[in-house]
Amino acid sequence: MATPFLAFLFLLILIASAAASSAEGATKCNASDREALLSFRSALSESHLGIFSSWSGDECCSKWYGVSCDPSSGRVAGISLRGESQDPILSAAGLSGALMYGRISSDLCRLDRLTTLVLADWKHISGPIPSCLPSSLPLLRILDLVGNRLSGPIPDDIGTLSRLAVLNLADNQISGTIPPSISSLSALMHLDLSSNRISGPIPTDFGNLAMLSRVLLARNRISGGIPSSAGRMLRLADLDLSENRISGAIPTSLGSSSVLSSVYLGSNKLTGEIPSSMIESRGLNILNLSRNAIGGEIPDAFGGWSYYTALDLSHNQLTGSVPATLASAAYVGHLDLSNNQLRGSIPAGTPFNRLDAASFDGNDGLCGGPLPAC
Ligand SMILES: *[C@@H]1O[C@H](CO)[C@@H](O)[C@H](O)[C@H]1NC(C)=O
Ligand SMILES: *[C@@H]1O[C@H](CO)[C@@H](O)[C@H](O)[C@H]1NC(C)=O
Repeated sequence: MATPFLAFLFLLILIASAAASSAEGATKCNASDREALLSFRSALSESHLGIFSSWSGDECCSKWYGVSCDPSSGRVAGISLRGESQDPILSAAGLSGALMYGRISSDLCRLDRLTTLVLADWKHISGPIPSCLPSSLPLLRILDLVGNRLSGPIPDDIGTLSRLAVLNLADNQISGTIPPSISSLSALMHLDLSSNRISGPIPTDFGNLAMLSRVLLARNRISGGIPSSAGRMLRLADLDLSENRISGAIPTSLGSSSVLSSVYLGSNKLTGEIPSSMIESRGLNILNLSRNAIGGEIPDAFGGWSYYTALDLSHNQLTGSVPATLASAAYVGHLDLSNNQLRGSIPAGTPFNRLDAASFDGNDGLCGGPLPAC
C-alpha cells in the first residue's frame, strides 16, 4: 500500500478518535505537563505513521494521540504508544510494523502524575531507562517498554514505585543485575524481563512479592539459585526462568502456590532432585525442566489431578524407572523423558501407548513399547 493512503487513513482515525474524546468533554491540559510532553517527543522520531503530528496545540488531553489525563486535574496520567499491530486502532487499519527512533527523555520525569507509560514494540528506541523515573513518578502502575533497544541497567531504586503492577522490559538490551529493591514492589503482579542481558542473582527476598502472578525472566544471564522465598508467592501462576545460568536445586517450596500453572526452567544448570511437591501441585499444566543436570528419581506422585499439556524432563541425569503413577494422570499431551539414565520397562496403558519412541530415546536401560521389548 502507498504511504500517502496510509497517512490519510491514519488521519481519519485520529479525527474520529479526537471527536469521540471531545464529546466526553475536553479537559484542559496542564501547561507544564504539555511542555514536558513536547520535550519527551523531541527526543523521539516516528515518520511512518506520523503519530506525533497530532501532538501540537493546547489540547494535549483530548487531541494528542496516546495521551490521557486525569479529568479533574487536567494532569497527564497516561502515555500509551504501541508499535507493531497490538494497538487495536492501528491494526484495524492494517497499520503495523512502524519504527520509532530516539531515546526516552528524562523530561518525562516532570510528568509526576503519570500512572501509565507504554512505549512498546517500536524496535529502535535506544538509550537508558531514565534514572529519575522511580523517584519522580510515584503513581506509576504500568511501565511497559517491551520490544525496543533500551540499554543500561534497571534503576536501582525501582522499588520505590509502590503502586507498580506491571513491569515489562522484555526484548531490549538491558544489562546489570536485578536491583534488590525490586522485592519491595508490593503491588507487582506481572514482571517480564525476558530476552535482555541481565546477569547476577535473583534477589533473596524475591518471594516478598506476594501479588506476583507472572515472572518471566527467560533468556538472560541470570546466575545463582532459585530463592526458597519463591514458595511464599502464593499467587504465582507462570514462572519462566529458561535459558539462564541458574544453579542449585529447585526449592521444595516452589510447588506451594495453588494457582501454579506453568513452570519453565529449561536450559539452566539446575542440580538436585525434582521436589515431589511440584508433581503433587494441582493445576500445573506445563513443567519443563529440560537441559539441566537434575538427578534422582522422578517422584512417583502423579494422580488423577495431573493434567499436563507438556511435561519435558529431557536431557537431565534422572535415574530409576518411569513412574507407574503417570498412568493415572488425567492427561499427558507432550511427554519427553529422553536423554536421561532411566531403566526398566515403560508402564502399559495411557499415556504410554500413544507416545512414540522419541519420548524415551537416549535412556540406555529403558525397554518395552514404544521401545523394543524388554
Ligand atoms: C500544572 O502542574 C503543576 C505541577 O507540575 C502545578 O504546579 C500547576 O499548578 C498546574 N497548573 C494548573 C493550571 O493546574
Ligand atoms: C523445554 O525447554 C527447552 C529448553 O529451554 C526447549 O528447548 C524445549 O523446546 C521445551 N520443551 C517444550 C515441550 O516446550
